[in-house]
Amino acid sequence: MLETSVSTSNPQTGLVPLAPYLRCVNCGKSDIQLSAGLINCGGCGKGFALRDSRFPDFLSDEDREKLKKELAFWEDHFANTVYQDESEASYERWATLMQVKEKDAVLEIGCGSGALLTRLPAKIRVGLEPAACLLAATTGFYGVIGSAENMPFQSDTFDMAFFKHSLHHVQDKAKAFAEATRVLKKGGRLIVMEPNAQHPQRRLISNPESFFRKLTPVVKLIGPVETFQTVDELVELGHENHLKIEKILYTESHYDRVSVRQRLQKIYSRGLRSLVPQKYLMPNYYLQFRKPLDV
Ligand SMILES: C[S@@+](CC[C@H](N)C(=O)[O-])C[C@H]1O[C@@H](n2cnc3c(N)ncnc32)[C@H](O)[C@@H]1O
Ligand SMILES: [Zn+2]
Repeated sequence: MLETSVSTSNPQTGLVPLAPYLRCVNCGKSDIQLSAGLINCGGCGKGFALRDSRFPDFLSDEDREKLKKELAFWEDHFANTVYQDESEASYERWATLMQVKEKDAVLEIGCGSGALLTRLPAKIRVGLEPAACLLAATTGFYGVIGSAENMPFQSDTFDMAFFKHSLHHVQDKAKAFAEATRVLKKGGRLIVMEPNAQHPQRRLISNPESFFRKLTPVVKLIGPVETFQTVDELVELGHENHLKIEKILYTESHYDRVSVRQRLQKIYSRGLRSLVPQKYLMPNYYLQFRKPLDV
């Protein structure tokens, strides 16, 4: 596994700068008090754990139970290793598309080890992630343990929030999308980089009813709850949340070591480039939404 590149001039340590972004998942109040190893809500009095002396843990027992298979998958495959599967050039490409400014407060939802997040030149980088083992191996951002469906963050707080290859793991996508919209500042951006459900390879395994999706080795390899979305489904969620749609791009990812699956993706996309529309050709998409100033 590669090490993440961490900006030493902006190491993002000490929890005090994080406090103004947090809110209690129990009562919704923003009075979260952080002191030596203890996290308390001044609204309802509930206490939250601080894992590894670094990560506020807002995952409820109910959420933990719902995420049991997902958490076990990451523990079994990536315990305390940095999860990072794309090439440096690929992360640079995503970062260029995202156009983050140095004054931005940025949130990655389902950040894993924050492989892309740590490369963004933001004022504050926050990563929400239920699997503590993926946070433990990395630094360079504020890791918060929690779930996309019930975010421990204040409303109207972040300049940009993004899902990168995480929304297809989330069980209630509509709720997660609404939460992402809630925590964005008015005028802020929501970016979604996801596997494209219309790509033939995704279609074979994305439908939970498909033959391939039911094979135990496939489930073991691709994780327990993945269901991919089409661009149209996410555009619809954008409309439901009153977001403006700014950009729709179909893209490829790039890897240092290419698996058979990724090699086949490339042969297919290069060979049929002039014949097949982008939305059936490319394995990923990049969507950019904006929260209007007047919502
Ligand atoms: C394929 S990994 C992507 C990690 C990271 N975004 C990246 O690109 O390297 C999917 C991530 O989604 C997270 N995830 C699963 N369910 C989630 C939920 N309900 N809320 C937030 N994240 C979730 C997983 O724990 C995992 O870290
Ligand atoms: Zn509370």
